[in-house]
Amino acid sequence: MSSLWLDTHAVQVPHEEPFPTGTHWDSLVVGAGLTGLTTAVLLARSGQRVLVLEARQVGAVATGNTTGKVSLLQGAHLSAVRSARSDEILQAYVDGNREAQSWLLRYLEERGVDYQQRPAYTYAHSPESLGMLEQELEACHAAGIQAQWAEVDELPYEVAGAVRLSDQAQIQPTAVLQSLATELLERGGFIVERTRMVGATPGPPVSIETSAGPLTGDNLVVATGSPVLDRGGHFARMKGHRSYAQAYRLPSETPVPQGMYLGVDAPGRSLRSAPVGGEELLVVGGNGHEVGRAESPAEAVRDLEAWTHRHFPGAQRTHAWSAQDYRPADGLPYFGQIPLGGGSMFAATGFNKWGMTNGIAAALAITSQILGGHMQWAETLAERSPSFSGLTTGAKDNASIGVRMTGDWIKAELKSLPEDPPAEGQGAVGRVGGQPIGSSTVGGVTRHVSAVCPHMGGILTWNDAECSWDCPLHASRFTPEGEVLEGPAVSNLDLK
Ligand SMILES: Cc1cc2nc3c(=O)[nH]c(=O)nc-3n(C[C@H](O)[C@H](O)[C@H](O)COP(=O)(O)OP(=O)(O)OC[C@H]3O[C@@H](n4cnc5c(N)ncnc54)[C@H](O)[C@@H]3O)c2cc1C
Ligand code: FES
Repeated sequence: MSSLWLDTHAVQVPHEEPFPTGTHWDSLVVGAGLTGLTTAVLLARSGQRVLVLEARQVGAVATGNTTGKVSLLQGAHLSAVRSARSDEILQAYVDGNREAQSWLLRYLEERGVDYQQRPAYTYAHSPESLGMLEQELEACHAAGIQAQWAEVDELPYEVAGAVRLSDQAQIQPTAVLQSLATELLERGGFIVERTRMVGATPGPPVSIETSAGPLTGDNLVVATGSPVLDRGGHFARMKGHRSYAQAYRLPSETPVPQGMYLGVDAPGRSLRSAPVGGEELLVVGGNGHEVGRAESPAEAVRDLEAWTHRHFPGAQRTHAWSAQDYRPADGLPYFGQIPLGGGSMFAATGFNKWGMTNGIAAALAITSQILGGHMQWAETLAERSPSFSGLTTGAKDNASIGVRMTGDWIKAELKSLPEDPPAEGQGAVGRVGGQPIGSSTVGGVTRHVSAVCPHMGGILTWNDAECSWDCPLHASRFTPEGEVLEGPAVSNLDLK
């Protein structure tokens, strides 16, 4: 399952040199998604020597698998932030997103990277959900966003109501990453792919251990989605949410909707168009769930496809993919210094599926902290105290994680691994010699791995859509061979 973006424009890093073991850099940036590469470019523009370390390939995780809407209207998110926090915090969030959106669109203009200006819509299927739209509109107006009620006449299904914000944008995310990577290299930066950071010690200088050797830097920026080596416990305050996207070629007589749509009630669907190689495809997203907790992710994929065929008869699927992002209890991102990081370790996370703006906002804020600048919205967001509702939700989440962990261990202890190998594409967890073991069959090969997550001991579940082992506690994911794919874990599963 490759995304439309990675399949049609995989990011090429023009030159890979031998790993510069033991070298010192002004800044080390870990993670080559939108957040890491933007941070690296901003630091390189100030004259810093910057090295970007990427465990897989540029854009391999969330950024290469996003839906790429660059919007200040974000479903029902602004009213959720307003009710969890305050008008002041909402304003800081919107100011950061607005600055990030302008930065990104200006950057794309300057670098000649294509994007499309489009209206964004938040819509409701059911009249009972119109109250949510009303609250969203009020939150928009409270934060100075000129959204308004709108008629929707280009969708092939009824909606009860919609809110519209004009002049938003949609991007081809890997084209953006390509431009950032190219600029970084032009400015003397260094990108190392297929190399994982596995440990870090605060400085000065900060030293990091990687799968290829040690490095040091005056600063370390951890832009890894869920922060690896997390000293602030962020992973424990966020939930990893995975959802599904598919691209379709529509019959010539069916127009592709031109707006960017997001539904607030079931079935929550995300729609946008995507110009690719002289034609325009439809991108449909939805069916999200917490990582490692869906009965059958493959069913979520089938359901999304059935929904699309129902509403767009004759649509031909060209691509199907999925990705995850991290949702903090109060819905607001975390970026800035890592606690106990000696003042020179930084992290960015918790973008809640709005990282096209929040990732850039994080890059702007962290760069300004490193370079001694001042951004009021970033400081307001960083200084927010945990709200009562945020704390309660966080505590509930952690309690549910504890219950889940104990329950999963007991289940794995009681159940023996079936004697017959799993069917093709399937996996199962059971006890072998007292240990939880995962057995899966992919490509005709049956493999056995430890089913205990190396991060903090969660019992893994099988993802039948992507043939991966997924952790229901903090959302790490692994291949059938046990290799870490994403999430806070930094080591592989033991082969059994
Ligand atoms: C289905 C879906 C749809 C979305 N749609 C939108 C949208 O329309 N608009 C929007 O604004 N946002 C959207 N988002 C959110 C957005 O895609 C993400 O928030 C954003 O891409 C995060 O970028 P990032 O650079 O922080 O993380 P990533 O792109 O995940 O980059 C992190 C990188 O760090 C690397 N890494 C991890 N661990 C290590 C390590 N130990 N050592 C070295 N490297 C490491 C990873 O391999 C990865 O490449 C969506 C998210 C999902 C899941
Ligand atoms: S990701 Fe934390 S225990 Fe698995």
